[in-house]
Amino acid sequence: MHKKYKKNLSGFVENKRLPIYNWLYYKEGFSAQIVFDLIERFDLKKGQTILEPFCGSGTTLLAAKEKGINSVGFDVLDIAVFASAVKTRDYSKVIDELKGSLEDLKNVPKRKQKIRIKEKIILRAFPERILSELLNIKENVGKIKNRVVSDFFLLCLINTATKTSFAMKDGGCIKIDKSRSLPPAKYMFIKTAKKMIRDVEEIKFPGCTTEVHRQDARCFELKENSIDCVITSPPYLNKIEYTNVYFIEEYLFLKRQFNAPLRSFVGKNSSIGIDDIGDEKLKKHLSEFRGKKYEAQIASYFVDTKRWLENVYFCLKRNKYCAVIVGGGCFEWGVVESDVILGLIAKDVGFELIDIEPLKKIVCTKNRTTKIGVLNESLVVLKK
Ligand SMILES: C[S@@+](CC[C@H](N)C(=O)[O-])C[C@H]1O[C@@H](n2cnc3c(N)ncnc32)[C@H](O)[C@@H]1O
Repeated sequence: MHKKYKKNLSGFVENKRLPIYNWLYYKEGFSAQIVFDLIERFDLKKGQTILEPFCGSGTTLLAAKEKGINSVGFDVLDIAVFASAVKTRDYSKVIDELKGSLEDLKNVPKRKQKIRIKEKIILRAFPERILSELLNIKENVGKIKNRVVSDFFLLCLINTATKTSFAMKDGGCIKIDKSRSLPPAKYMFIKTAKKMIRDVEEIKFPGCTTEVHRQDARCFELKENSIDCVITSPPYLNKIEYTNVYFIEEYLFLKRQFNAPLRSFVGKNSSIGIDDIGDEKLKKHLSEFRGKKYEAQIASYFVDTKRWLENVYFCLKRNKYCAVIVGGGCFEWGVVESDVILGLIAKDVGFELIDIEPLKKIVCTKNRTTKIGVLNESLVVLKK
């Protein structure tokens, strides 16, 4: 029987109230509560290891850490890897240093920064005075010698930038809303930093290990039969282009390294059609999309889905579970039920399909007005 999940557990909204989880607003993330539920349901214990191959803002990793369970996370987006690492670090030995550095940052003189940025979206996203303030803080955060401390304040600055910007994440793109009234960046930075320091002072984690790596879920290497559970959510088909949506944060504060589009993990297979797929079973699962517009995107997405599922299957221990939160794809001609297809592919890979549990229904529209169909967001439970 399906477990009934509270509304919104597949989304990030509930995390906005939770200390540390809310150090970066990651719209595409899921709630900590769903991870806690799954940890309980799969009876995971201290000393075991959870894998999250698409760790995003680190929800699974942080929830595992709260329960004293080891975890390993991968992602290809710099901001995701950075935020996951910063959120799951141990700050117990540097709290005084954090407080001292914050005092230093409070006292840095206001200095007008020369804006050399040419990227139009960034120039539109911030008034010049705010951009100058942000760059000034960045320069001073960069002078902090202890990397754990400087990363902490850099994530705080990224968080500040999202609150002091006209840019808003709207589905797959960035919208500029100049009617927003923006607080001064330094004021917001100090307020956010104080709150973050309070979080690390208050929360005590039981001991465990957390690893975060910048790695592609299609080709990471972990030891065979070494993982006790997988809790994850891959990018959704035709949903968002992560490198676009997080462009401002990555460009301003992190060194961007990865430029390939991530929407549907389109890599070297991006021009394949369904008939080019070598795997006969997969070809059959996708046959109804042959000849449809965006056929190549659908084919690539599911070829890649098979690759990451194979990877996960290899490192998962026998009789252990893999929980995947996934939503369908919305196209102008209809919807693609990713949960069902992922379940079929998982069976081909060797998993037992335990259940597809509905989490949410999303209306799929064309031009934001005409209803095309209804998309399911589901929890697919697999067992090796
Ligand atoms: C739905 S989000 C995961 C959100 C995460 N569960 C959370 O709560 O924050 C999907 C993530 O997959 C990442 N991603 C996309 N393609 C990837 C790939 N080939 N390998 C690893 N990560 C990838 C994206 O950067 C994004 O962070």
